[in-house]
Amino acid sequence: MTKALSNPHLPFGDQRTAPWYGKSILTVKQFNQDDLKYIFEVAHEMREMVERVGTFDLLKGKILVNLFYEPSTRTASSFTAAMERLGGSVIPINEVKYSSVAKGESLPDTVRSLECYSDVIVLRHPEIGASALAAQYARKPIINAGDGIGEHPTQALLDLFTILEEKGNVDGLTITMVGDLKYGRTVHSLSRLLSLYDVKLNFVSPEILRLPEEIISELESKGIPIQEYALLDQALSESDVLYVTRIQKERFEDPRDYENVKGTYIINSQTLASAREDLVLMHPLPRVGEISMDLDDDPRAAYFRQMEYGMYVRMALLAMVLGKA
Ligand code: CP
Repeated sequence: MTKALSNPHLPFGDQRTAPWYGKSILTVKQFNQDDLKYIFEVAHEMREMVERVGTFDLLKGKILVNLFYEPSTRTASSFTAAMERLGGSVIPINEVKYSSVAKGESLPDTVRSLECYSDVIVLRHPEIGASALAAQYARKPIINAGDGIGEHPTQALLDLFTILEEKGNVDGLTITMVGDLKYGRTVHSLSRLLSLYDVKLNFVSPEILRLPEEIISELESKGIPIQEYALLDQALSESDVLYVTRIQKERFEDPRDYENVKGTYIINSQTLASAREDLVLMHPLPRVGEISMDLDDDPRAAYFRQMEYGMYVRMALLAMVLGKA
Protein backbone atom coordinates (compact mmCIF):
# COMPACT_ATOMS: atom_id res chain seq x y z
CA MET A 1 0.00 0.00 0.00
CA THR A 2 1.35 3.46 -0.85
CA LYS A 3 2.29 5.66 2.09
CA ALA A 4 1.59 8.86 0.15
CA LEU A 5 -2.18 8.48 0.43
CA SER A 6 -2.00 8.59 4.20
CA ASN A 7 0.30 11.63 4.31
CA PRO A 8 -1.76 14.38 6.03
CA HIS A 9 0.00 17.06 3.97
CA LEU A 10 -1.05 15.45 0.69
CA PRO A 11 -4.81 14.97 1.17
CA PHE A 12 -5.58 14.02 -2.46
CA GLY A 13 -2.68 11.61 -2.90
CA ASP A 14 0.94 12.37 -3.63
CA GLN A 15 0.59 15.43 -5.83
CA ARG A 16 4.26 15.25 -6.82
CA THR A 17 3.57 12.10 -8.84
CA ALA A 18 0.52 13.54 -10.66
CA PRO A 19 1.48 13.72 -14.37
CA TRP A 20 0.62 17.39 -14.89
CA TYR A 21 1.76 18.64 -11.48
CA GLY A 22 3.89 21.77 -11.85
CA LYS A 23 3.77 21.73 -15.65
CA SER A 24 3.16 24.79 -17.82
CA ILE A 25 0.54 24.73 -20.55
CA LEU A 26 2.05 26.58 -23.51
CA THR A 27 0.87 24.93 -26.73
CA VAL A 28 -1.58 22.27 -27.86
CA LYS A 29 1.41 20.37 -29.21
CA GLN A 30 1.88 19.13 -25.62
CA PHE A 31 -1.25 16.98 -25.75
CA ASN A 32 -2.01 13.54 -27.13
CA GLN A 33 -5.42 11.85 -27.28
CA ASP A 34 -4.96 10.21 -23.85
CA ASP A 35 -4.21 13.59 -22.28
CA LEU A 36 -7.35 15.05 -23.85
CA LYS A 37 -9.48 12.16 -22.62
CA TYR A 38 -8.13 12.71 -19.13
CA ILE A 39 -8.67 16.50 -19.19
CA PHE A 40 -12.24 16.07 -20.39
CA GLU A 41 -12.98 13.41 -17.76
CA VAL A 42 -11.80 15.82 -15.09
CA ALA A 43 -13.82 18.64 -16.72
CA HIS A 44 -16.92 16.44 -16.50
CA GLU A 45 -16.27 15.85 -12.80
CA MET A 46 -15.87 19.60 -12.33
CA ARG A 47 -19.19 20.23 -14.03
CA GLU A 48 -20.94 17.68 -11.80
CA MET A 49 -19.44 19.25 -8.69
CA VAL A 50 -20.40 22.79 -9.74
CA GLU A 51 -23.96 21.65 -10.47
CA ARG A 52 -24.11 19.82 -7.14
CA VAL A 53 -22.37 22.21 -4.73
CA GLY A 54 -21.35 25.36 -6.63
CA THR A 55 -17.94 25.82 -5.03
CA PHE A 56 -15.68 23.36 -3.22
CA ASP A 57 -12.28 23.47 -1.58
CA LEU A 58 -10.05 21.45 -3.91
CA LEU A 59 -7.64 24.39 -4.35
CA LYS A 60 -8.26 26.10 -1.01
CA GLY A 61 -5.21 28.17 -0.12
CA LYS A 62 -3.90 28.29 -3.70
CA ILE A 63 -3.45 31.60 -5.50
CA LEU A 64 -3.67 32.32 -9.23
CA VAL A 65 -2.26 35.43 -10.92
CA ASN A 66 -4.16 36.53 -14.01
CA LEU A 67 -1.51 38.54 -15.89
CA PHE A 68 -3.10 40.08 -19.00
CA TYR A 69 -1.18 42.40 -21.35
CA GLU A 70 -4.10 42.29 -23.83
CA PRO A 71 -7.85 42.78 -23.26
CA SER A 72 -10.00 39.81 -22.28
CA THR A 73 -13.51 39.17 -21.04
CA ARG A 74 -13.93 35.39 -21.22
CA THR A 75 -10.45 34.00 -20.60
CA ALA A 76 -9.67 36.23 -17.63
CA SER A 77 -13.08 35.91 -16.01
CA SER A 78 -13.43 32.17 -16.62
CA PHE A 79 -10.03 31.50 -15.03
CA THR A 80 -11.14 33.67 -12.11
CA ALA A 81 -14.44 31.80 -11.85
CA ALA A 82 -12.63 28.46 -12.18
CA MET A 83 -10.18 29.28 -9.37
CA GLU A 84 -12.89 30.63 -7.08
CA ARG A 85 -15.20 27.64 -7.75
CA LEU A 86 -12.28 25.50 -6.55
CA GLY A 87 -11.90 27.50 -3.36
CA GLY A 88 -8.72 29.35 -4.40
CA SER A 89 -8.15 33.04 -4.91
CA VAL A 90 -6.97 35.33 -7.70
CA ILE A 91 -4.64 38.32 -8.09
CA PRO A 92 -6.00 40.11 -11.17
CA ILE A 93 -3.53 42.16 -13.24
CA ASN A 94 -5.81 42.85 -16.14
CA GLU A 95 -4.45 46.26 -16.95
CA VAL A 96 -0.67 46.09 -16.94
CA LYS A 97 -0.32 49.85 -17.36
CA TYR A 98 -1.14 50.13 -13.65
CA SER A 99 1.59 47.61 -12.77
CA SER A 100 5.38 48.00 -12.87
CA VAL A 101 5.29 46.88 -16.50
CA ALA A 102 4.55 50.56 -17.18
CA LYS A 103 7.93 51.39 -15.61
CA GLY A 104 9.67 49.11 -18.08
CA GLU A 105 9.85 45.87 -16.09
CA SER A 106 10.64 42.86 -18.27
CA LEU A 107 8.37 39.85 -18.61
CA PRO A 108 10.88 37.51 -16.89
CA ASP A 109 11.14 39.85 -13.91
CA THR A 110 7.38 40.33 -13.75
CA VAL A 111 6.66 36.59 -13.62
CA ARG A 112 9.51 35.95 -11.15
CA SER A 113 8.00 38.61 -8.91
CA LEU A 114 4.41 37.44 -9.17
CA GLU A 115 5.24 33.80 -8.54
CA CYS A 116 6.53 34.81 -5.11
CA TYR A 117 2.89 35.47 -4.18
CA SER A 118 1.14 32.72 -6.10
CA ASP A 119 1.02 29.09 -7.24
CA VAL A 120 0.18 29.49 -10.95
CA ILE A 121 0.23 32.33 -13.51
CA VAL A 122 -2.18 32.70 -16.43
CA LEU A 123 -0.52 34.93 -19.04
CA ARG A 124 -1.91 36.73 -22.09
CA HIS A 125 0.66 38.69 -24.07
CA PRO A 126 0.80 40.28 -27.57
CA GLU A 127 4.02 38.50 -28.61
CA ILE A 128 4.34 34.98 -30.00
CA GLY A 129 6.36 32.83 -27.60
CA ALA A 130 5.84 35.11 -24.58
CA SER A 131 4.44 32.28 -22.45
CA ALA A 132 7.32 29.99 -23.40
CA LEU A 133 9.75 32.75 -22.42
CA ALA A 134 7.95 33.29 -19.11
CA ALA A 135 8.05 29.53 -18.42
CA GLN A 136 11.83 29.51 -18.91
CA TYR A 137 12.18 31.85 -15.96
CA ALA A 138 9.28 30.79 -13.73
CA ARG A 139 9.38 28.07 -11.09
CA LYS A 140 5.57 27.90 -11.03
CA PRO A 141 3.32 26.76 -13.91
CA ILE A 142 2.54 29.27 -16.65
CA ILE A 143 -0.71 28.85 -18.57
CA ASN A 144 -0.74 30.46 -22.02
CA ALA A 145 -3.95 32.48 -22.34
CA GLY A 146 -3.01 33.71 -25.83
CA ASP A 147 0.41 34.77 -27.17
CA GLY A 148 -0.16 37.27 -29.94
CA ILE A 149 -1.11 35.52 -33.16
CA GLY A 150 0.53 32.30 -31.92
CA GLU A 151 -1.62 29.98 -29.85
CA HIS A 152 -4.50 29.94 -27.39
CA PRO A 153 -4.30 26.38 -26.07
CA THR A 154 -6.93 26.55 -23.33
CA GLN A 155 -9.42 27.98 -25.84
CA ALA A 156 -8.71 25.06 -28.18
CA LEU A 157 -9.27 22.61 -25.34
CA LEU A 158 -12.62 24.16 -24.52
CA ASP A 159 -13.52 24.27 -28.22
CA LEU A 160 -12.79 20.57 -28.57
CA PHE A 161 -14.71 19.83 -25.36
CA THR A 162 -17.64 21.76 -26.85
CA ILE A 163 -17.55 19.69 -30.04
CA LEU A 164 -17.51 16.49 -27.98
CA GLU A 165 -20.35 17.64 -25.76
CA GLU A 166 -22.48 18.84 -28.66
CA LYS A 167 -21.75 16.08 -31.22
CA GLY A 168 -20.80 13.13 -28.98
CA ASN A 169 -17.62 12.41 -30.97
CA VAL A 170 -14.97 14.05 -33.16
CA ASP A 171 -13.90 11.31 -35.55
CA GLY A 172 -15.65 11.50 -38.89
CA LEU A 173 -16.65 15.16 -38.59
CA THR A 174 -16.18 17.91 -41.16
CA ILE A 175 -15.23 21.11 -39.39
CA THR A 176 -15.22 24.44 -41.22
CA MET A 177 -13.36 27.46 -39.84
CA VAL A 178 -14.18 30.85 -41.29
CA GLY A 179 -12.88 34.40 -40.97
CA ASP A 180 -9.46 35.56 -39.83
CA LEU A 181 -7.39 32.40 -40.13
CA LYS A 182 -4.07 34.25 -40.43
CA TYR A 183 -4.16 36.12 -37.13
CA GLY A 184 -6.68 33.89 -35.34
CA ARG A 185 -4.72 32.10 -32.63
CA THR A 186 -7.79 30.07 -31.63
CA VAL A 187 -7.91 28.62 -35.15
CA HIS A 188 -4.18 27.83 -35.05
CA SER A 189 -4.53 25.90 -31.80
CA LEU A 190 -7.84 24.20 -32.61
CA SER A 191 -6.77 22.96 -36.05
CA ARG A 192 -3.59 21.48 -34.53
CA LEU A 193 -5.61 19.77 -31.79
CA LEU A 194 -8.14 18.40 -34.27
CA SER A 195 -5.29 16.89 -36.29
CA LEU A 196 -5.10 14.21 -33.57
CA TYR A 197 -8.45 12.92 -34.86
CA ASP A 198 -9.96 11.59 -38.06
CA VAL A 199 -11.49 14.85 -39.32
CA LYS A 200 -11.84 16.85 -42.51
CA LEU A 201 -11.00 20.56 -42.16
CA ASN A 202 -12.30 23.35 -44.39
CA PHE A 203 -10.76 26.82 -44.16
CA VAL A 204 -12.74 29.78 -45.49
CA SER A 205 -11.08 33.20 -45.59
CA PRO A 206 -10.20 36.17 -47.77
CA GLU A 207 -6.90 35.61 -49.62
CA ILE A 208 -4.96 37.92 -47.27
CA LEU A 209 -6.21 36.06 -44.18
CA ARG A 210 -5.44 32.48 -45.21
CA LEU A 211 -4.21 29.99 -42.63
CA PRO A 212 -0.39 30.27 -42.30
CA GLU A 213 1.53 27.92 -44.58
CA GLU A 214 3.36 26.43 -41.58
CA ILE A 215 0.09 25.16 -40.09
CA ILE A 216 -1.20 23.89 -43.44
CA SER A 217 2.03 21.88 -43.79
CA GLU A 218 1.66 20.48 -40.27
CA LEU A 219 -1.89 19.34 -40.99
CA GLU A 220 -0.94 17.83 -44.34
CA SER A 221 1.99 15.97 -42.80
CA LYS A 222 -0.50 14.31 -40.45
CA GLY A 223 -2.69 13.26 -43.38
CA ILE A 224 -5.60 15.56 -42.52
CA PRO A 225 -7.77 16.28 -45.58
CA ILE A 226 -7.99 20.05 -45.90
CA GLN A 227 -9.69 22.35 -48.36
CA GLU A 228 -9.41 26.13 -48.64
CA TYR A 229 -12.23 28.33 -49.93
CA ALA A 230 -12.97 32.02 -50.39
CA LEU A 231 -16.76 31.58 -50.17
CA LEU A 232 -18.55 29.98 -47.24
CA ASP A 233 -21.38 28.47 -49.28
CA GLN A 234 -18.85 26.17 -50.96
CA ALA A 235 -18.17 24.46 -47.63
CA LEU A 236 -21.26 25.05 -45.51
CA SER A 237 -23.60 22.27 -46.58
CA GLU A 238 -21.14 19.48 -45.74
CA SER A 239 -20.11 20.98 -42.38
CA ASP A 240 -20.88 19.35 -39.04
CA VAL A 241 -19.28 22.24 -37.15
CA LEU A 242 -18.96 25.85 -38.28
CA TYR A 243 -16.32 27.75 -36.29
CA VAL A 244 -16.64 31.47 -36.96
CA THR A 245 -13.94 33.99 -36.01
CA ARG A 246 -13.71 37.75 -35.81
CA ILE A 247 -11.58 39.63 -38.32
CA GLN A 248 -9.12 41.19 -35.89
CA LYS A 249 -8.80 44.85 -36.70
CA GLU A 250 -6.07 45.32 -34.07
CA ARG A 251 -3.69 42.89 -35.83
CA PHE A 252 -3.57 44.66 -39.23
CA GLU A 253 -0.50 46.76 -40.08
CA ASP A 254 -2.39 48.66 -42.79
CA PRO A 255 -5.92 49.78 -41.78
CA ARG A 256 -6.92 49.80 -45.47
CA ASP A 257 -6.45 46.03 -45.59
CA TYR A 258 -8.90 45.68 -42.71
CA GLU A 259 -11.42 47.95 -44.44
CA ASN A 260 -11.21 45.74 -47.54
CA VAL A 261 -12.06 42.51 -45.71
CA LYS A 262 -14.24 43.54 -42.78
CA GLY A 263 -17.76 42.16 -42.99
CA THR A 264 -16.75 39.54 -45.59
CA TYR A 265 -18.64 36.81 -43.75
CA ILE A 266 -21.86 37.52 -41.89
CA ILE A 267 -23.70 34.44 -40.67
CA ASN A 268 -27.46 34.92 -40.23
CA SER A 269 -30.55 32.73 -40.42
CA GLN A 270 -30.55 33.04 -44.21
CA THR A 271 -26.96 31.76 -44.35
CA LEU A 272 -27.83 28.76 -42.23
CA ALA A 273 -30.76 27.80 -44.47
CA SER A 274 -28.36 25.59 -46.45
CA ALA A 275 -26.63 24.21 -43.35
CA ARG A 276 -27.33 20.91 -41.63
CA GLU A 277 -30.09 20.73 -39.04
CA ASP A 278 -27.56 19.34 -36.56
CA LEU A 279 -24.81 21.86 -37.33
CA VAL A 280 -22.91 23.16 -34.31
CA LEU A 281 -22.25 26.89 -34.69
CA MET A 282 -19.29 28.04 -32.61
CA HIS A 283 -17.37 31.26 -32.05
CA PRO A 284 -14.60 31.93 -29.49
CA LEU A 285 -16.11 35.43 -29.03
CA PRO A 286 -16.08 38.40 -28.93
CA ARG A 287 -18.11 38.79 -32.12
CA VAL A 288 -18.36 42.10 -33.92
CA GLY A 289 -21.20 41.38 -36.30
CA GLU A 290 -20.00 38.17 -38.00
CA ILE A 291 -22.81 36.16 -36.38
CA SER A 292 -26.15 37.93 -36.41
CA MET A 293 -27.98 38.09 -33.08
CA ASP A 294 -31.03 36.66 -34.81
CA LEU A 295 -29.28 33.27 -34.53
CA ASP A 296 -28.82 33.37 -30.77
CA ASP A 297 -32.00 31.38 -30.12
CA ASP A 298 -31.27 28.85 -32.86
CA PRO A 299 -30.49 25.51 -31.15
CA ARG A 300 -27.46 25.20 -33.42
CA ALA A 301 -25.88 28.31 -31.87
CA ALA A 302 -23.45 26.85 -29.31
CA TYR A 303 -21.26 29.88 -28.60
CA PHE A 304 -22.68 30.72 -25.19
CA ARG A 305 -22.67 27.06 -24.12
CA GLN A 306 -19.06 26.99 -25.39
CA MET A 307 -18.15 29.69 -22.85
CA GLU A 308 -19.62 27.71 -19.98
CA TYR A 309 -17.78 24.54 -21.03
CA GLY A 310 -14.64 26.67 -20.86
CA MET A 311 -14.94 27.19 -17.13
CA TYR A 312 -15.05 23.42 -16.47
CA VAL A 313 -12.05 22.82 -18.72
CA ARG A 314 -10.09 25.58 -16.98
CA MET A 315 -11.06 24.16 -13.56
CA ALA A 316 -9.64 20.82 -14.74
CA LEU A 317 -6.41 22.42 -15.95
CA LEU A 318 -5.86 24.36 -12.72
CA ALA A 319 -6.47 21.24 -10.63
CA MET A 320 -4.06 19.27 -12.83
CA VAL A 321 -1.12 21.67 -12.77
CA LEU A 322 -1.58 22.18 -9.03
CA GLY A 323 -1.51 18.43 -8.43
CA LYS A 324 -5.11 17.95 -7.34
CA ALA A 325 -6.56 16.01 -10.25
N1 CP B 1 -12.18 33.74 -26.54
C1 CP B 1 -11.40 34.65 -25.90
O1 CP B 1 -10.17 34.50 -25.78
O2 CP B 1 -12.10 35.69 -25.40
P1 CP B 1 -11.49 36.91 -24.57
O3 CP B 1 -10.57 37.66 -25.50
O4 CP B 1 -12.66 37.70 -24.10
O5 CP B 1 -10.69 36.31 -23.43
